[in-house]
Amino acid sequence: MSEIPYHTSLLKHTVFWRFQMTINRMPSLVIGDLELSLPIVQGGMGVGISLSGLASAVAEEGGIGVISAAGIGREEKDFYKDLRAADERALRKEIRRARELSNGIIGVNLMMALSDYDTLLKASIEEGIDVAFISAGLPIRLPENFTVEEFRNCKTKLIPKISSARAAAVILKSWKRLFNRVPDGFVVEGPLAGGHLGFTRHELETESQNLEDILEGVINSVKPYENDYGSIPVIAAGGIYTGADIHRMLSLGAAGVKMGTRFVATHECDAHQSFKQAYIDCEKEDIVIIDSPVGLPGRAIGGRFLDQVRAGIKQPLGCIWQCLVTCDVKTAPYCIGKALNNAKMGDFCNGFAFAGANAYRVKEIVSVKELCSTLVKEYENFSQNTAVN
Ligand SMILES: Cc1cc2nc3c(=O)[nH]c(=O)nc-3n(C[C@H](O)[C@H](O)[C@H](O)COP(=O)(O)O)c2cc1C
Repeated sequence: MSEIPYHTSLLKHTVFWRFQMTINRMPSLVIGDLELSLPIVQGGMGVGISLSGLASAVAEEGGIGVISAAGIGREEKDFYKDLRAADERALRKEIRRARELSNGIIGVNLMMALSDYDTLLKASIEEGIDVAFISAGLPIRLPENFTVEEFRNCKTKLIPKISSARAAAVILKSWKRLFNRVPDGFVVEGPLAGGHLGFTRHELETESQNLEDILEGVINSVKPYENDYGSIPVIAAGGIYTGADIHRMLSLGAAGVKMGTRFVATHECDAHQSFKQAYIDCEKEDIVIIDSPVGLPGRAIGGRFLDQVRAGIKQPLGCIWQCLVTCDVKTAPYCIGKALNNAKMGDFCNGFAFAGANAYRVKEIVSVKELCSTLVKEYENFSQNTAVN
């Protein structure tokens, strides 16, 4: 029997452990010149669920902490007098506060359906926000108050949230033609997410769509553009709950994941304790699909308020500003901004909580630090087990 020379066996041993280390550890998420040690984006959650408190805590752990701009001005005294000014002031305040609390990466979530979307995007960029996640609409026009030059060279990373490969293709094509640039990445959100969803009720009820297939489609759509414009990371979202889920998404080619539901059940989440408790108390059957006045289906925890809506009982609207472009104020049975804000304050007689399909799995409130270290451990264990088997 020939003996393996010492240096060859040493090399094999080193390669084996290098391999072990790379498969066990969560990789970093790179978005242009930003490098995140934790490839986790905390989902922007309105109204008032993810503000500077949650966002700064996630940023401190090495992920992207995201402030939701939806209805952010509702706590300002002049909200009913001047929505635009109130929203803009509140958003700037939250960004500055998050910056005071953390040196990590901070993002904002801006819904295109917001009537002051352009103002809030401009304000976020002026505040030097690291990343703007753009949702609830196809961002294929130049936002107001921007020149093409400004939009092309803006330092803030611009990342649309989409739910189909077709949407990615449309955005890529238009941005290339209009601005000679592409988005800095995409978030692909599947049907299990909380909040408003980019699917029809029929698609949701028949479970005809799944995140894995859409992710694959989007990854294929960005590939041809990467030769000219460099890497376009694709981040997976919707129903991602454990470290094993993160591992599965990364092994399918996602550069990172975006998680909302799991971050609600943290001490740092900016919602009232009763909002978090609603997650702990809910059962699988309590999580329902609603038709939101915004014109999109959404996933939420059912309860008295939504029962009344279903029974046809109209809530007073009191709409002074049409804060959502797509809201049909004449027929809307309630003001969704007000209802979500009430829930955020713990008033479930007059509001309801958005939640992902996995919200019923939440059993306790933990700190963001504990949650992130659990996710890392789960990822590493899963990675090790799959490598061994
Ligand atoms: C309570 C709640 C509020 C949300 N609000 C918004 C929002 O205002 N804008 C948005 O684009 N997405 C919103 N989302 C979606 C999240 O940003 C994220 O994409 C989603 O939660 C990911 O799915 P998961 O909850 O299964 O992790 C919300 C989700 C939840 C649970």
